[in-house]
Amino acid sequence: MGIQRKVALVTGAAKGIGRGICERLAADGLVIAAVDIEPSSDTVKSIIDVGGRAAMYICDVSKADQVNATVAAIARELGPVAVLVNNAGIHPNPPTMTKDMSDERWHQMVAVDLDSMFYFARACIPMMQEFKWGRIINFSSACFDGFTPPGATHYMTVKGGAVGLTRGLSTELGSDFITCNAIAPGTVDTPGLSEMDPTGSGMVLKAATASQLVQKITKPHNIAAAVSWLVSEEADMVTGQVIHIDGGVTRT
Ligand SMILES: NC(=O)c1ccc[n+]([C@@H]2O[C@H](COP(=O)([O-])OP(=O)(O)OC[C@H]3O[C@@H](n4cnc5c(N)ncnc54)[C@H](O)[C@@H]3O)[C@@H](O)[C@H]2O)c1
Repeated sequence: MGIQRKVALVTGAAKGIGRGICERLAADGLVIAAVDIEPSSDTVKSIIDVGGRAAMYICDVSKADQVNATVAAIARELGPVAVLVNNAGIHPNPPTMTKDMSDERWHQMVAVDLDSMFYFARACIPMMQEFKWGRIINFSSACFDGFTPPGATHYMTVKGGAVGLTRGLSTELGSDFITCNAIAPGTVDTPGLSEMDPTGSGMVLKAATASQLVQKITKPHNIAAAVSWLVSEEADMVTGQVIHIDGGVTRT
């Protein structure tokens, strides 16, 4: 049946890049399990309105027990998870120097942006192994390879961790025809990014765009298109890679 009607679990699905990915994968014919801590029905409604299939699951991705219960509910209600997109994340907002970082903020960043990827992968891998097919896509960031303003060391650390997890999983899972890749966006126009703009004037987005080789604002659909391709059978032989979608900023 190809990828049609396979179940894709997308975290951080209520808004921003996650919502864009849900809408794109639904248009590709996948059934969407939209996971978020926020009880927003907009993502699911936009998919159902155009004839797609989706359901929302409320889950704090940083909590292993909630992740396990959510994956079990999805498998029971929609079917086994074939595609896992670990997109949920918090931004380094406000920027904080390491010397001023509390234990609580450090651990929150690690739990939401990195532990969550491990929890979901651990819960979903057995289903993918049973079918000898699967896709895992983890969200890193171009900041791991490029310039990051001071105050985001905790964020850089987890985004580097996402690359390590991706490479490790690709090594473990290739023999079961399960691929694992990372996406590293540059600066993308999302609600989370807007919250980092203290003036509300779009300065953060404008400054970031000016530093790119391609002088255009990156939108969630630009990221979703790459996820769609990685999920497709055309990308069967792509694994362990980090795909930068950043207007060339890591090339400068
Ligand atoms: N926007 C960018 O410029 C950019 C750049 C590089 C990487 N990224 C990465 O892309 C991903 C998505 O970013 P975005 O800009 O769309 O973010 P966003 O803030 O716009 O949306 C993030 C979503 O994740 C959800 N979320 C946060 N904490 C959660 C938790 N504990 N449990 C469940 N859901 C939770 C939020 O409710 C929200 O719906 C993140 O991993 C981010 O680090 C974004």
